[in-house]
Amino acid sequence: MLNRSVKFAAFYLILLSALPSFAVDWDKVPGKDMVLFYPGQLSWEMLLTQSEHSGADKFREGKNCRQCHEGEEAASGKLLVADKSSEREPIAGKSGSIKATVKAAHDAENMLIRLDFDPGQQPDSAMEPKYPLMAAIMIDDGKVAEVARGGCYALCHDDMMRMPSAKAGVDLTKYLSRSRVKMARTGGDEMKPADQLDKLRADQAVVEYWQARLAPGAAPVMVDGSVLEKRQEHATPVVTATSTEAGGKWSVIFSRKMVAGAGYKDFASGKTYNVGFAVHAGHTSHRFHYVSLEKTLVVDQGTADLVAVRN
Ligand code: HEC
Repeated sequence: MLNRSVKFAAFYLILLSALPSFAVDWDKVPGKDMVLFYPGQLSWEMLLTQSEHSGADKFREGKNCRQCHEGEEAASGKLLVADKSSEREPIAGKSGSIKATVKAAHDAENMLIRLDFDPGQQPDSAMEPKYPLMAAIMIDDGKVAEVARGGCYALCHDDMMRMPSAKAGVDLTKYLSRSRVKMARTGGDEMKPADQLDKLRADQAVVEYWQARLAPGAAPVMVDGSVLEKRQEHATPVVTATSTEAGGKWSVIFSRKMVAGAGYKDFASGKTYNVGFAVHAGHTSHRFHYVSLEKTLVVDQGTADLVAVRN
């Protein structure tokens, strides 16, 4: 008898552990609609140059990107995806933007961020053979001021690979301006010495990112990491994701512990985070993605694009 109840208890435990950590009633979580647009090859340096972008001086005076561009994302994307002056390698037939809805929730232990999007008809660019789609989130917790002001663009520099000032044979990935000794119109020069970069890392002056690599009928393949002097993946991601696809519409739910340890931002009640969203569609890679303008997320209560409510 005793033996039997022990067995039963063990079985019950296995069942419990196979359940998701908690179930969110997503219908009750308000969604934030956004347009993810094709950013072209406009770098941070170019956008900060008044003769090339008429918003530059006003931006320097304190006006953020979205204050001028919110609501214009679809029009900007349409222009940038095909205009040879802002995109030297246009992909024929590619749409300039896609629509997405984002939701966030937590259970005090786990943070969940859900991204629903419809990539629509996408030409196959054949850049990324395995994954037709990738969905990504960037997170800053207030340590990298330019992300609050300029979102993803703050990490996009003129000398990165396939950008206008890229040097042959030097494949630079995303980085933060503070990792370089000096910045010029063509991007950064020398990298700061290792001890200074370590100090910035110790101060958490980095941007965290999560990426789900997606293919129909397969579980998402996760990557997470951070950006300071380059994009650096964690050897083993702690962020997990599930995805579903129906009629071409995708839903990706990212999750990780609110406090996930070194290399990850702590999510804390009442705190605001600066976030950016990106989707690669049509087998693209690198900069050939759709991005959001700068967005905000707050935990529990406050004013932000996304309020991660407790479930
Ligand atoms: C004061 C308003 C203002 C601010 C602030 C501003 N812009 Fe602009 N932006 C403009 C105007 C006006 C244009 C179109 C003319 C031009 O290119 O100079 C433009 C053009 C662009 C374009 C080209 C596509 C298009 O729709 O013409 C992009 C992309 C862009 N801005 C991104 C940004 C980003 C990113 C930031 C923040 C770093 C930013 N802008 C800040 C006003 C602004």
